[in-house]
Amino acid sequence: MKTHRIALMPGDGIGRDVTAAAWSVLLKAAGTAGFALQGTAFPWSCAFYKETGAMMPQDGIETLRGFDAILLGAVGWPAQVPDSVSLHGLLLPIRKNFVQYANIRPHRLLPGVQGPLKADAFDILCIRENTEGEYSGAGGRIHNGTADEVAVETAIFTRTGVERILRFAFDQARARSGKLASVTKSNAQKYSMVFWDDVTRELAAEYPDVVVTSYHIDAMAARMVMAPESLDVVVASNLFGDILTDLGAAIQGGLGFAASANINPDKSVPSMFEPVHGSAPDIAHLGIANPIATIWSGAMMLDHLGESDAATAIMAAIERTTASGIGTVPGKDRTDAITAAVLAAL
Ligand code: NAD
Ligand code: IPM
Ligand code: MN
Repeated sequence: MKTHRIALMPGDGIGRDVTAAAWSVLLKAAGTAGFALQGTAFPWSCAFYKETGAMMPQDGIETLRGFDAILLGAVGWPAQVPDSVSLHGLLLPIRKNFVQYANIRPHRLLPGVQGPLKADAFDILCIRENTEGEYSGAGGRIHNGTADEVAVETAIFTRTGVERILRFAFDQARARSGKLASVTKSNAQKYSMVFWDDVTRELAAEYPDVVVTSYHIDAMAARMVMAPESLDVVVASNLFGDILTDLGAAIQGGLGFAASANINPDKSVPSMFEPVHGSAPDIAHLGIANPIATIWSGAMMLDHLGESDAATAIMAAIERTTASGIGTVPGKDRTDAITAAVLAAL
């Protein structure tokens, strides 16, 4: 029987509840479809940091390299460990070291879910650059604590990085409606964003079947609320994509519905699957986190592993669940009840 080796990283807060939920659904789907999932759990988290002084062991990345995929809940417990330490100690190095340069985040309304907008027929695929840009980690602070203090955060955009994410987005657009929206702020940021626009134009010549339109990030934020049905594939830099995808989550009914896949198309290294949301300290331990975002991310993982029938079955089970009214209103149904409904629908 075919076996996929999965690194399970629940992380912090509701990350534990939602990964447990997704794992139970994934195991059932695998059993039905006739393949095996072998999960290995890693306790790397803020609690792990409090015990050991590090978010993961020194050889953590090498340990993960042996897996076919990583399923992650959420990282961060700001009351105990500063976010700048926890995220730069675990989540961000995984994305970077495994060159998971394409962060794919689908935004559409599941049946039965009432979003905040009048429009309900949108189907947006955000493609977020995931390894460089505003998240490069280059910069510094000088004259700390004085009146002359200066902080610099350098956004680094390389031709390799920009070209590969745009090419990925053009390919996605070609496989969908042929419509691509590229998001920058080239009216104000005259180096990196003009460069991004230039590369977009260069690649457009190679994709005559794709209609590409460039938008400024501010106008795109408004468009996602006012006319989301006018969009299909949307590609953006790391930070802009981060912000747009919480907006995307909001219009699809909340963060509990927003899934994501951190992809390196080279399957010899693991890609990582996780919800868009974080550890939600405000509702952690209450048992009311919506697990659908993570279950959906798990379906994206199976698709990436070549198990598309099982992935389709999970999506159908999620849709049957929300169509029946379960899990559609934040806080109404408990995590366990939503998970049980998805399992039953499967
Ligand atoms: P958050 O996404 O954790 O929470 C934002 C709001 O959405 C909260 O009110 C929360 O209760 C709600 N929410 C989130 N997921 C939900 C779910 N599944 N069901 C129901 N409600 C849900 O964002 P935050 O509060 O800014 O961040 C909390 C911590 O998580 C921070 O440490 C942050 O850095 C971290 N974080 C981690 C990731 C990640 O690991 N990928 C992503 C975002 C934030
Ligand atoms: C996300 C998160 C992370 C990001 C944070 C926690 C560093 O917000 O996955 O969207 O900005 O990438
Ligand atoms: Mn985010």
